Amino acid sequence: KSPYSAQLKSVIRTVRDWPEAGVNFRDITPLMQDRSAFRKLIDAFVHQYHDVQIDAVAAVDARGFIIGSPLAYELNCSFVPVRKKGKLPFKTLSETYKLEYGEATVELNADAFAPGSRVLLVDDLIATGGTMIAAANLIRRAGGEVVECVAIIDLPELGGSKLIQNAGFSVFSVCEFT
Ligand code: PRP
Ligand code: HPA
Repeated sequence: KSPYSAQLKSVIRTVRDWPEAGVNFRDITPLMQDRSAFRKLIDAFVHQYHDVQIDAVAAVDARGFIIGSPLAYELNCSFVPVRKKGKLPFKTLSETYKLEYGEATVELNADAFAPGSRVLLVDDLIATGGTMIAAANLIRRAGGEVVECVAIIDLPELGGSKLIQNAGFSVFSVCEFT
């Protein structure tokens, strides 16, 4: 958590029954539209890692890119996209994981990291944790070391952050919605 957790949480919008009945969708667009909140969010992540050796920020397509890019810029490290299937043109590694209905695949450039690179993995939100675990596994397979899995929002009742930790990765999130 950060000193700004409550303020940042207050500018995340909840949209009831989207994308389907019974789901409370946590929408980060108002946070990004608020320049003071958006700056505090990026600053909170920069502050968390500015004393840590980070070689690359890897971020998950698409909302992870929004925070991963400014964070990589501020930490003066490289930026690596973890993309949805079929978007990367060069040699890739891929991981397929289960969704509530069906499955999804994420991909990473096979040459993304020098061996032993220390990588921060960034996404906007942890729900079931499937995306974060698949992305973290990709980073390991590509020769990187996952320093931490970073998100704006954790939905702890869905158990994703526990699963990520059980898979051997450390987790940092700015706020939780229950
Ligand atoms: C959302 C979110 C995370 C993922 C979290 O992405 O941005 O990447 O789901 O869910 P999980 O913990 O259950 O895996 P979405 O697929 O909606 O993609 P988007 O960023 O392109 O909107
Ligand atoms: N908000 C945004 N993205 C999501 C959510 C949510 O509540 N659940 C799964 N992905």
